Amino acid sequence: MLADWQSIETHPRSTLSELFENDPDRVSGFTMEQSGIYFDFSKTHLNDDLIRKFETLSCGLHVADKIKALFAGEAINISEGRAAEHSAERGRGNEQSVELAAMLRKRMESLVLAIESGALGTIKHIIHLGIGGSALGPELLLNSLAIGDEQYETVVISNIDGTALEPALERFEADKTLLVVASKSFTTSETLLNAQSVIDWMREQGETDPYGRIVALTAAPDKAVEWGVDESRILPFSETIGGRYSLWSSIGFSVALTLGLQSFEDLLAGAAEMDTHFATAPLDQNIPVIAAWSDQYYAQARQCQTRAVFAYDERLTLLPDYLQQLEMESNGKSVTSDGRALGRHSSAIVWGGVGTDAQHAVFQLLHQGTHIVPVEFLAVIEPGHSLGPDHHHGLLLNCFGQSAALMAGQKSDDPNRNYPGDRPSVTILLDTLDAKTLGALIAFYEHRTFVNAALLGINPFDQFGVELGKQMANALMSGESNEMDSSTEQLRKRAFPA
Ligand code: F6P
Repeated sequence: MLADWQSIETHPRSTLSELFENDPDRVSGFTMEQSGIYFDFSKTHLNDDLIRKFETLSCGLHVADKIKALFAGEAINISEGRAAEHSAERGRGNEQSVELAAMLRKRMESLVLAIESGALGTIKHIIHLGIGGSALGPELLLNSLAIGDEQYETVVISNIDGTALEPALERFEADKTLLVVASKSFTTSETLLNAQSVIDWMREQGETDPYGRIVALTAAPDKAVEWGVDESRILPFSETIGGRYSLWSSIGFSVALTLGLQSFEDLLAGAAEMDTHFATAPLDQNIPVIAAWSDQYYAQARQCQTRAVFAYDERLTLLPDYLQQLEMESNGKSVTSDGRALGRHSSAIVWGGVGTDAQHAVFQLLHQGTHIVPVEFLAVIEPGHSLGPDHHHGLLLNCFGQSAALMAGQKSDDPNRNYPGDRPSVTILLDTLDAKTLGALIAFYEHRTFVNAALLGINPFDQFGVELGKQMANALMSGESNEMDSSTEQLRKRAFPA
């Protein structure tokens, strides 16, 4: 396998302009379409020879078998001894898991319908508490898909910083607020503290039974019961669904309630289409696979340590945040699944922002900096507003202009005004931003992350790296901080003088 990697890493380099000159059909050869999403890989340095080399590498690394094992519900999360079954929520996977997911979704749907018909009294506001995967997915969906005429005003709050929660408590009516506590483990301190503060607020506002309006979304129903949630309002999901892959499960309850059950169904249907493509397309025509090959080419052959994602659509502002957790928590590892040192870069550092704003802030570095940053542009053909066409023309054409400029560059005798060009990008163009398309897009990113892990030999489904920091913070909070270093001790004393 080393030879295959080496052959990719030492592959003769052509510039992007040369690749276009040498292949008049480059655009049709390196663009693909699935579920209303157009993927343009032509402005990357991938060419037919590299594709063949990645195909050989992938065969040697059994990528196709790993994809099969994922969908078969095999225990591919080796360190935790379990499967990774987010696709079962979308109807593909081990038969029993698909049945279980469907049954749990029925339970979620019943609760949505009961709340809609007034079973918990009049609900106007929803406070969804969760963090990481229990917040980012629902918030991305709500930000992207809500149009402003929803029946409920829903906020997603994650941070332990009270500045995040307080404005909602100031604005909302306690007797018309539904509290949704989303936590796979039901032990996450930020979420439970925020939940306690909401309960305290409800009580202060005269609510005699705040627990009567709490819904828990969790893979640990016993813990939710212990914490005080009524069993009838606990929506479980399977332990085999990782936090950052959980928006398809009951973690999406607030989304289903706010946007409607049909939207949630559409979301799952879009993801299911991408699952089918990923499960069945040959590797060299498989969109998540090609995207991962491009990622690995830049990470390993060109030593690019970051990838930037710019959504040219305000509705997708949270996408880079969502992808940061998905990709960096999944693949930010130094060892392979069997515990050996990885010996190469793992996940790219994912960063980004929204266009056109980012053009006036960070694009300087992309065009002229010393780092080569593969860029991912996302845009939506159908606008999300009803203002005049100039806005959307300007938005999309700025997006296309940036990728063209990064690739073409511009020579100048004045070094300050020289643009080197040959800087790669991928453009992902959505026909429209509806639940189905967004479901397909998110599933694409999940599968791309999986293929990157498969190529590196990483287990993308555990996240032990987050534990030590939690332990240290807990030790500080409980006062058992004897073993802290002097710098940390001094910081604590300065913030909290005795
Ligand atoms: O600390 C990391 C993490 O475990 C993420 O993987 C997860 O999405 C998040 O915290 C929230 O965890 P939980 O859903 O168990 O509250």
